[in-house]
Amino acid sequence: MVGGGDGAFIGAVHRIAARLDDCYELVAGALSSQPARAAASAAGIRLAPERSYADYAEMARCEAARPDGIDVVAIVTPNYLHAPVATAFLEQGIHVICDKPLAITLAEGEALAALALSKRRVFALTHVYAGYPMVRHARAMVAAGDIGEVRLVHVEYAQDWLAEAANQGADYQKNNWHNDPLRAGAAGCLGDIGSHAYHLAAFVSGMQPDQVLDDHVQVMLRYPNGARGMLWSSQMATGCENALRLRVYGSKASLAFDQENPNQLWMTPQGGTAQRLTRGRVRGSAAEAVTRVPSGHPEGYLEAFAQLYRDAAAQIIAVETGQAMQSHALDMPDVGDGVAGLRFMDAVLESDRRGSSWVALRA
Ligand SMILES: NC(=O)c1ccc[n+]([C@@H]2O[C@H](COP(=O)([O-])OP(=O)(O)OC[C@H]3O[C@@H](n4cnc5c(N)ncnc54)[C@H](O)[C@@H]3O)[C@@H](O)[C@H]2O)c1
Repeated sequence: MVGGGDGAFIGAVHRIAARLDDCYELVAGALSSQPARAAASAAGIRLAPERSYADYAEMARCEAARPDGIDVVAIVTPNYLHAPVATAFLEQGIHVICDKPLAITLAEGEALAALALSKRRVFALTHVYAGYPMVRHARAMVAAGDIGEVRLVHVEYAQDWLAEAANQGADYQKNNWHNDPLRAGAAGCLGDIGSHAYHLAAFVSGMQPDQVLDDHVQVMLRYPNGARGMLWSSQMATGCENALRLRVYGSKASLAFDQENPNQLWMTPQGGTAQRLTRGRVRGSAAEAVTRVPSGHPEGYLEAFAQLYRDAAAQIIAVETGQAMQSHALDMPDVGDGVAGLRFMDAVLESDRRGSSWVALRA
């Protein structure tokens, strides 16, 4: 693991996710940019001292040279380090599980995609919401034509953790890397949570828009088939905890998913009654394939994260041994999804620069 030292947020979530299905053992880390903190953090999670590194580049070199060196690295650092860290490990032939956004510029993201391809390494991108059973089910329903042709996509992701700072006229948590364009990327909130919303909409609808128009991260979307869409994201939406919601309207039916109630998916046929589909009750479905506990027992964010870890493990084992894997492991978001997200962010920033006008999205 690179990042995820004492006090960090998502590293601990990755460690839980990696343990859940017994596919991984955490054996090495460069857990912080500060050597003393890296060592103390490693001791705290019982890593062997000789495999706690002060520097990620040294870790990549040393682990690649060990006969029992790591197979895969989890990257949980601030955004600006994703590309350099992933590059160091890919260069050594090590598979990558990286948190989002893929990188802070499209050029960096494209270079990573090319490198992962040339090295034939698995590159998982932890857009965690793609790990929910009911999101997998929604994707399968759209792909099977259950809701007809998609006409409208509406996705929103709102949080409130910046509202208080704005209320107080404070410097927007100046020392928090999330608010520093050099470390978080120029897209700000769009890169932080809009990237998740964008991926979720694409994952379920099966479509990427070909035009965008932005006004304060309220992005209008046009899809090649004539469908229209809307993406809104904010971190100053007072009272919103983690309000990621998706609605997809087809010619026959619509689907609605709310991340804060992830064990259910609403399906409403045109002219019919709303049906509440639940995780454990859709037999033989895409949801069932990624469910761990019997119906009625809630699963959530940690299990969704673990699903991406399990998918990545299946892909890595397939690459390393030629062993077959279950097809649902291919639902894992990857470096290509990361590049698509960065293209979207680039186009949105361009639309903003042009005073909110339509901008074509590069395929
Ligand atoms: N998938 C999700 O749902 C999700 C949720 C939250 C955050 N994230 C992403 O996870 C990443 C980390 O976010 P966070 O909230 O955990 O940040 P954080 O600031 O809490 O933790 C970052 C960690 O990286 C370490 N670090 C910084 N520079 C380093 C270096 N050179 N070498 C080794 N370690 C270094 C820090 O010491 C810290 O331990 C971000 O890219 C963020 O976008 C994803």
